[in-house]
Amino acid sequence: MKARKVLADAVEVLKASPAIDHWQRGRERLEAEDLLWHVLDHEPELSEDVSDADRRTFERLVRRRATGEPIPYIKGYTEFRGIELRVGPGVFVPRDASENLADQAVRRLRNRRRPVHVDLATGAGTIALAVAHEVPKADVMGTDVSAEAVRQARANARRLGLRARFVTGDLFASVPTPLSGSVDVITFHPPYVPLREMRDLPDEIRKWEPVHTLTDRSPDGLGLITRTAHEAPAWLSPGGWLLVEVSPDRVRFVKSILGRAGFREVRSTKGGPIPFTRVIVAKRPA
Ligand SMILES: C[S@@+](CC[C@H](N)C(=O)[O-])C[C@H]1O[C@@H](n2cnc3c(N)ncnc32)[C@H](O)[C@@H]1O
Repeated sequence: MKARKVLADAVEVLKASPAIDHWQRGRERLEAEDLLWHVLDHEPELSEDVSDADRRTFERLVRRRATGEPIPYIKGYTEFRGIELRVGPGVFVPRDASENLADQAVRRLRNRRRPVHVDLATGAGTIALAVAHEVPKADVMGTDVSAEAVRQARANARRLGLRARFVTGDLFASVPTPLSGSVDVITFHPPYVPLREMRDLPDEIRKWEPVHTLTDRSPDGLGLITRTAHEAPAWLSPGGWLLVEVSPDRVRFVKSILGRAGFREVRSTKGGPIPFTRVIVAKRPA
């Protein structure tokens, strides 16, 4: 069967799926092409013949996607700032929207002589590994409360040949004490969904990604951010930065928390290929 027909059939299956959220609508064609590319191992040409075996494999993957399963779980990997991150169930799927967080970190680390970076709540190692890739001289440490996340982050670092350490722990609990007062940039993409808003999340997020990656179970979703605002200054070097990624509706609360904790030059930034989130940047209290 020609790829054109195989893709058209897949688009129909995806469009008919009640499990794929409305904000993904219009992306069915791109998703079908992405999965077919994955199966064929090359960019599909519409006029090429797809073998029966490849078509059956592809149709199986399309049926998985139609249940709402995120594409990175289906393929086993995703791209983030030019590196391939493996990610599997139990770990937050890296989002394109987080590119701005990595970018803000890279800009602040690149010109330091011996830059030190800590990525809190690192997940698959997303921000830590982007920094290790783009600022190879940096001393990078990622930490996450989930042992499975740390296992996947370590595996990613090994496979990519990148220099980054990963430890399991609650916020700064496992960061080695000698790093205190010497971290130039702390990045933090926390679980920030208020507990009562969890039920409003699209099914394909709520049903597939673990709860602890989405919410800290506080009523306003700001529990971990408030703790970090108080704990981070002791870890930061003079002039060091705390960078926090949140949704646009959380920005004013986060700015106020950081301002009250004494941080300076607090502002919100927007960028990256999908500016769906914001990064609040804040300089260590004097
Ligand atoms: C929104 S995900 C971000 C993951 C990754 N930084 C990324 O952008 O792909 C939030 C992460 O916070 C971690 N987490 C939740 N509670 C934590 C805590 N108390 N201390 C450290 N990490 C925590 C979760 O395991 C999850 O990996």
